Formats: sequence, structure tokens, C-alpha cells
Amino acid sequence: MNYRVFASKADTIAALAQTIVERAEEAERFVISLSGGSTPKALYERLGQNEMTRLAARRIVWVVGDERCVPPDHEMSNSRMINETLFASGIPDGHTFLRFRTELEDPAVIASAFEGECHALSLDRLDFALLGVGDDGHTASLFPGTDVLAEGKRISREVWVERLASWRVTLTIPAIRSAKIRVVLAVGENKRDILTKLRDGVHFPVASVMGDENDAWWFVDAAAYPGEAGG
Ligand code: 6PG
Repeated sequence: MNYRVFASKADTIAALAQTIVERAEEAERFVISLSGGSTPKALYERLGQNEMTRLAARRIVWVVGDERCVPPDHEMSNSRMINETLFASGIPDGHTFLRFRTELEDPAVIASAFEGECHALSLDRLDFALLGVGDDGHTASLFPGTDVLAEGKRISREVWVERLASWRVTLTIPAIRSAKIRVVLAVGENKRDILTKLRDGVHFPVASVMGDENDAWWFVDAAAYPGEAGG
């Protein structure tokens, strides 16, 4: 596993923000998928407050990586969280925000509509996939034991998550693996256990999208870092 280890959460966020800006400035059109949950909020706030002036000059397609099947204004909505952090000052001209249209209500329809928008935007691959990791090793809404893990063609799919007793919609493994660079952001003591299991070779869904290639990186703080194998 390719780690970038930082002393604190703030240092990790700052380094990742800088990496995203640098990658965006190298691309003619920069297509980046965004993770949900709580970890990336501080990153999106930093990008929205400190970096958006530089980013506004680029052509960027911001893609929600997965979504809870709740109304767009629901407190659990990832796209609402992104709007309130990354886009707190609005979406720059020339930028596109591609979200799952949960107002369509039917999970299968939401996933298909999203896939149609990806094709309409000619999003044949991501430049950057920003990911998180859950304590069960899920990433995006690719949860252990779900049928979406077997999806080998579609860009996005609906998935019933028994553990949560709820529907989700998500980018698929092939869609995330198509990204030129994949980065998991994991900070805090509560991530060390799952990172230790991953380091020791336990295969979780997040491992299916990361692998050990040079274009897969784990941005972690010292609290989350499990140390090298056998360390
Ligand atoms: C979501 C995310 C999910 C998240 C992990 C980690 O919709 O919840 O996309 O994959 O990255 O659950 O969440 P935390 O950052 O809150 O620990």
C-alpha cells in the first residue's frame, strides 16, 4: 500500500488539497469523484475557501461518488454536504457538479439517470477518485456482501445495504478503477483498525478499487497509520 503519512489531520487535508489542485491544473478537463461521509468535509471546506480561486480557472467536473437514497436536502445527503462545504460560495462558471438525482426516488432510476449523464458528458474515465473507507472496509457504497461488487460494466448502480437497511447508489468498481489516480483519505484513531487489517492482506471492497499500483495512494495521519507490515 502506498502511504502518504502526515503528523495531523490538518496536515493531511492540506497536502491532499494541494495534490488535487496540482492535478486539476495539469488537466484540460479535470474529472474528480468525491467521497461522502464525514472525513472529507474539512477537505471540501479547504478547497472551497482556500483553493477555489485557483480551481475556478480550470474546467472541472465534480462527480458525487455515492449517495444515500434520501431527498437532496436531507441531512444525510452527500450532495447536500458537498454543496455546503466545497460549493459554499457557489459552483464556479465552467464547472459541472454531477450528483445522483435522488428526487427521482426509485434507486434503479437514479442510478440509470446518473449513468446517462456520465455518457452525455463523455466521462469515459475519472482523472481522480477521492475515496473514504468505512470500518467494514467499504468505500463509496461498495459494501461487503453486496451484489454491486460483481458489477463489471456499469458506471453506477443501485445497491441495497442490509447492514443499513437502506438503498444507496454508487460508482462501481470498474468506474473507480478507471481513475488515473485513486486516493483514500483516512484520518483519526478510528481508522487504524481497518487500515491494519488491509495492510495485513484482508480483502475488503476498498482493496478491490485500490490495489498496489503507483496510481493508488492512502493519505493518512499518524493516528490512522498502521505502520508497515511486520513493523
Ligand atoms: C458515504 C461514503 C462512504 C464513506 C465511508 C467513511 O456515503 O458514507 O461515501 O464510503 O467514505 O463510510 O465515512 P467517514 O468518513 O464518515 O468515516
